[in-house]
Amino acid sequence: MDTNSHSTPEAHRSGSLRAVMNHIVEKHHTFCRNEVVRLSSLFGEVRAERGKQNPELKRMEALFAAMAKDLHMHLIKEEQTLFPYIARLEEAVCLGAAVSWPPFGTVENPIRIMVEEHEQTDRELKEMRSLSGGYLSPPDAPACYAALYEGLRSFEREMEDHIRLENEELFPRAIAMEQDACARKAAGQG
Ligand SMILES: [Fe+2]
Ligand SMILES: [Fe+2]
Repeated sequence: MDTNSHSTPEAHRSGSLRAVMNHIVEKHHTFCRNEVVRLSSLFGEVRAERGKQNPELKRMEALFAAMAKDLHMHLIKEEQTLFPYIARLEEAVCLGAAVSWPPFGTVENPIRIMVEEHEQTDRELKEMRSLSGGYLSPPDAPACYAALYEGLRSFEREMEDHIRLENEELFPRAIAMEQDACARKAAGQG
């Protein structure tokens, strides 16, 4: 992926799918990976200080760890399989060249799995928010407690933007592009 992609939402709508994917990887995937490391460490700190008084922290930490493990694999699947296929598809369409069809049949198959995984992440984020009482830290909580909750709140917002961009922009455009390429092939034009 090159690093000269546009990054505004307007650019995504009018720009190439490659630019959208570059933006997703550089901004959202990087944020996700960095925050998983930082928040995991903060969880350890907060639970050591307040785990006894606030037993919900243990459940939240376990949920976060499970979500982080799934997200790790999710990002790899996007970066190593789905996004490269979409980039090759777009390149072939732009050049008017033959599309090399993927081993997974149609792009709709991996996209369906990614969307299901997004829904799972969304459920986990909602459960963590609910366990935390809306991320309101107790008035006597140490600074690391407030930092953890603020970090989780930002993580949730960022994941919502990330998921929305994939579900509502990238994936529908990739499906439409593939369908168009199939129609052209059937008509003997690709
Ligand atoms: Fe992603
Ligand atoms: Fe995703």
